[in-house]
Amino acid sequence: MNDTIHEYYMEAGKIAAEVRKESLGKIKEGIPLLEIAQYVENKIVDLGGVPAFPCNISINEVASHYTPQDNVPCFKKSDVVKLDIGVHIEGYIADTATTVEVGTNNHLKLIKTCEEALEKAIASVKDGIQTNTIGRIIEETIKKNGFNPIKDLTGHSLERYRLHAGTTIPNYKSFFGNKIKKDMVFAIEPFATYGRGRIKDGEPYIFAINDRCKGELAQEIRERFGPLPFTPRWIPGITGKELKGAREYFELIEESGNIVAQSEHTVIVTDEGCEVTTK
Ligand code: CO
Repeated sequence: MNDTIHEYYMEAGKIAAEVRKESLGKIKEGIPLLEIAQYVENKIVDLGGVPAFPCNISINEVASHYTPQDNVPCFKKSDVVKLDIGVHIEGYIADTATTVEVGTNNHLKLIKTCEEALEKAIASVKDGIQTNTIGRIIEETIKKNGFNPIKDLTGHSLERYRLHAGTTIPNYKSFFGNKIKKDMVFAIEPFATYGRGRIKDGEPYIFAINDRCKGELAQEIRERFGPLPFTPRWIPGITGKELKGAREYFELIEESGNIVAQSEHTVIVTDEGCEVTTK
C-alpha cells in the first residue's frame, strides 16, 4: 500500500474514532436519534472527512441499517443502541461501531462479549489467515459467554469507494474461507444476541444509486455520493420515485425480536498482524 493511501485510511479512521467517542456521551433518554445522527455527520465534515454512509443508529432487536429521518424517534431508557459510523477521505473508508445502553446496565455482558469477540478477532488477523478462522474465534467467544453470533451478518473488505468489496469475514466458523492477504482492508463486526441470530428485513432507510437509476436527480445523487450509500433526509425534495431501481439497504432485524449488540473496527492487514485504523 502506498504511503498516501495509507495516510488516507489512517486519517479516516482517526476521524471516525473521535466522532464515535464524542457522540457516545450525547446519547441520553429523550434525545431524538436524529440529533445524534446529524451531530455525527456534521462532526465528520468539521474534522475534514466525508460520511461514507448515513450514521446508523439501530436500537434493541434492530441490528443495523436504521437511520432516522425526522425528530420523532427518541432514545428511551434501557435502549441498547448500536452507533455505526463511516468516514471516507478520497474514497478510503473507515467503518466503526459500538454499543451503549441508555441509562441502565442490564445488557453489559452482551455488550462486553461483542467487544471481547472483536478484540480476539483483531488479535488473530495477519497475512495468510483464513476468514473462517477469524469467524471461529468470534463464534467461540460469543458462545462461551452464553450468547449467539448473528450468522447472517458479516465483516467485509473495503476498497476505494467500495463499502463491501467482495470478501466477507463471517461471525461463525463457516465451511469455506478465503485467505486474507497483507494490505487488504477489512471492517470486522461481530454481532451478539440472546436470540438465535438470524436476520429478517425491515424497511429501507438507506439507499445507493446504481446504473439502473435514471433521471436528473439520480444523476445528481450519483455525482454527490458515487456508489456509496445515502439517505433521503440528505436530499431535500426527494419523493422516492427517483430511487426506483436503487439498491435498498433494509433494516436488519433479529428474527426472534431479541436484543443485539455490535462492535466494529477497521483494520489494515500487515505481515505479522494488523493496524487498527479506528482505535
Ligand atoms: Co461495516
